[in-house]
Amino acid sequence: MRTQFTASKSAPAKVGAVVIPVAASGSLPSGLGVTRDQLAAIGFEGKCCQTLTLPATEKGTVRVLVGLGEVRDLQPNVLRNVAAAAARACSRYESVSTTLATVGRGDTKTNAQAVVEGFALALHRWAELKNDKGSLPKLTKVNLLTGDKGAAVKNGMERGIATSEAVCIARDFANTPPSHLTARQFADHAVAIAKANGVKATVYNRDQLQEMGCGGIIGVNQGSVEPPRMVKLEYKPTGARGKVVLVGKGVMYDSGGISLKPSDPSHASMKMDMSGAAAVLATMSALRDLKVKTHVIAFLMCTDNLPSGSAMKLGDVLTMRNKKTVEIHNTDAEGRLILADGLSLGTELKPDAMLDIATLTGACMGALGKKMAGVFSNNPGVLEQVKQASGRTDELVWELPLFHDYRNMLDSNVADMRNIGGPLAGATTAALFLHEFVGSTPWAHLDIAGPMDADADAGWLNRGATAYGTRLLIDFVANFKKPAARRK
Ligand code: BES
Ligand code: ZN
Ligand code: ZN
Repeated sequence: MRTQFTASKSAPAKVGAVVIPVAASGSLPSGLGVTRDQLAAIGFEGKCCQTLTLPATEKGTVRVLVGLGEVRDLQPNVLRNVAAAAARACSRYESVSTTLATVGRGDTKTNAQAVVEGFALALHRWAELKNDKGSLPKLTKVNLLTGDKGAAVKNGMERGIATSEAVCIARDFANTPPSHLTARQFADHAVAIAKANGVKATVYNRDQLQEMGCGGIIGVNQGSVEPPRMVKLEYKPTGARGKVVLVGKGVMYDSGGISLKPSDPSHASMKMDMSGAAAVLATMSALRDLKVKTHVIAFLMCTDNLPSGSAMKLGDVLTMRNKKTVEIHNTDAEGRLILADGLSLGTELKPDAMLDIATLTGACMGALGKKMAGVFSNNPGVLEQVKQASGRTDELVWELPLFHDYRNMLDSNVADMRNIGGPLAGATTAALFLHEFVGSTPWAHLDIAGPMDADADAGWLNRGATAYGTRLLIDFVANFKKPAARRK
């Protein structure tokens, strides 16, 4: 059940609780009936994301205080987490009402969007396969009190509903077990989602991919009884400004293939190896609602990576869509093979920018941990726009080098390149591999292997699939400006 949001000037007649923002300093909201000293004595100082539930007064409603910290620090990214903390503290009530959208330092529209995202993302659960739904949050109705800022709150609320719905879509897909979500099923869902959101969808099957020369996705799929799918999505608003291509890694399940992964917990998370494709699909689903003016074309590259008698072997050579040949040295480095075809197809469309997003390397996770994605780029203008989008959405990225000196680590005796480098700089050699398929297209590559899932609930992140990159991609295309031409 998704959270439903409404906005109104005055409080609705009956709600389960009111969420009352309390700053760390200054006067308390009127009518609380307690003093700062009394609150401090029971451990509530208004620190950022602290919560305290006060019992209902006679004829009153339960009050949940949520700490804002110092209001001067209350940027939208902080407010999103404050709202998430409030949501977690209120999960037992069916409905709440709050003035949170009117208290932050950002503009009201951005604040309201952040508040909606905080509530919706903290309350999201994927419980399709749970018989006992008793432990799920009961909170499904959130009313934003607008004061005299009705129009701005409503506008931000609508945007927050669109972005958080997209994130929930992507999380649901990534949380779904691999046998419940094959490439074919994912493609069917993509078509339905596209149709409902003004996006054109074209699905390519195995024979068509073969015909198109997409040797990467065909090679990776070879060991699976499930056929591959590539889904091309196109959002073209009238009067579009700029053209962006998005490519998502959609490995429905990554066993490693013949280079089988060990049976450790990380292997069980490989149902999420399609998180990039899920983020891209989710992004496409939100563009019409957000009135995005950029022309966006997406490729979801979907297949399993499994071992069998027909699987791709070490030493095999694949010919990719752009005719480059690749010698396979490790079948577990499969993401780059399917992205190669997607990036080649994207490059053929001559976009103003191209982004790919992929759970690509354990090396990136080793370098940056689970709280940020790696970003590589061949274009400072695109990179800067990715960083700006990252800053606004709190989906952190850190730049890693596309260091061309390491290109020789990919040299092959028999083909144009191998699919893995040496033991060092694994995230960079993966990015250098992808770079072979983008030509001179302004491009950035997001490696989300680390933040694709979270171990625990924290702020707007929930345990399980995070849909990392979804809001970043939406923000990127929504604010996209053609990067300046590169100097020769
Ligand atoms: N899907 C994995 C990367 C991954 C690892 C994602 C952990 C999320 C969490 C990818 O296909 C992979 O297996 N990469 C290999 C590449 C290596 C064989 C060069 C890796 O990172 O070990
Ligand atoms: Zn792999
Ligand atoms: Zn993988």
